[in-house]
Amino acid sequence: MRAVVLAGGRSLERQVSLRSGARVEDALRSLGHEVVRLDPAADLVRRLKQERPEVAFIALHGPGGEDGTVQELLEILGIPYTGPGIAACVRCMDKVVAKHEIRAAGIPTPDWVAFNATAFRELGAADALEEIEAQLDFPLVVKPASQGSSLGVKFAASPEDVPEALVAAFSYDDRVLLERYVRGRELAVGILESDSLPIVEAVPKQEDFFNFEARYEIGRTTYLCPAELSEPEAQSVQDAARRTYETLGCEGFARVDLMLAEDGEPQVLEVNAIPGLTDTSLFPQAAEAAGLSFEDLVGRIVTLAFERRRESAALPG
Ligand SMILES: Nc1ncnc2c1ncn2[C@@H]1O[C@H](COP(=O)(O)OP(=O)(O)O)[C@@H](O)[C@H]1O
Ligand SMILES: [Mg+2]
Repeated sequence: MRAVVLAGGRSLERQVSLRSGARVEDALRSLGHEVVRLDPAADLVRRLKQERPEVAFIALHGPGGEDGTVQELLEILGIPYTGPGIAACVRCMDKVVAKHEIRAAGIPTPDWVAFNATAFRELGAADALEEIEAQLDFPLVVKPASQGSSLGVKFAASPEDVPEALVAAFSYDDRVLLERYVRGRELAVGILESDSLPIVEAVPKQEDFFNFEARYEIGRTTYLCPAELSEPEAQSVQDAARRTYETLGCEGFARVDLMLAEDGEPQVLEVNAIPGLTDTSLFPQAAEAAGLSFEDLVGRIVTLAFERRRESAALPG
């Protein structure tokens, strides 16, 4: 089969994407496919029309690749693609949109307040900080609505930390949220098709505990898979992750990040519509713990792209 792997792009997660893409490309080759790698730029549509691939494997992360943009173009061109469809990508890319949907579905997610740059610049949102802080309690986590890899995510222990954290978050995005900090264990659940993979736990080094950006660097956090959880804990975490995946309309695969709070309740933080697929990424580690090699995983993801295509082709009208 002729496949294109889309990797690179212009988001801040370009380097991660290039690593994900290179690994996917190798896997597709060893599965016997003919592969062309495309780095999305101004000639993307032209290149796709030239290549006429039977499937596009999207290994892009962040805005542009994970937010529905590339998916829209692929649908226009009639090229089946991997991972969630347009609507799910749009919902997952914006943490505020995702949290509204998650909460509306009755799935626990930490309390939050969000506002965009316009509210700040033109509507005096700064004057509401006192009320916001009173509603949420400290500590808080301040983050941009649409980034990944912990970019711009800051811990605010007290009101004095908020202005600087807001400036940092606004440097990444025009929309920012302040979210109640959840003390507990940090977990990630990969969902393949609609089944949960074994749970991954991120165990940060003590000195990096509140430095989320630093923790993301390779080697600074230890990952355990499967996480050591009691059976009921694991059940409720996987259940929350599966329900989140379905609520947001994900297809193919995705990764749900959540905290297991000290009271034993899972609190969903976000969904990654196209999780990292590098050799240190969590999703492939979880697949491996389930007995799926990286090649098996990539093969399965491609098959799911075709199945979805056949299902939508079978719809009337
Ligand atoms: N409300 C929160 N409580 C505790 N830790 C949080 C919270 N929000 C984010 N974090 C920490 O920051 C990391 C990144 O946040 P996340 O919402 O997953 O954004 P992204 O991964 O897209 O950058 C999480 O994995 C977690 O370690
Ligand atoms: Mg995350």
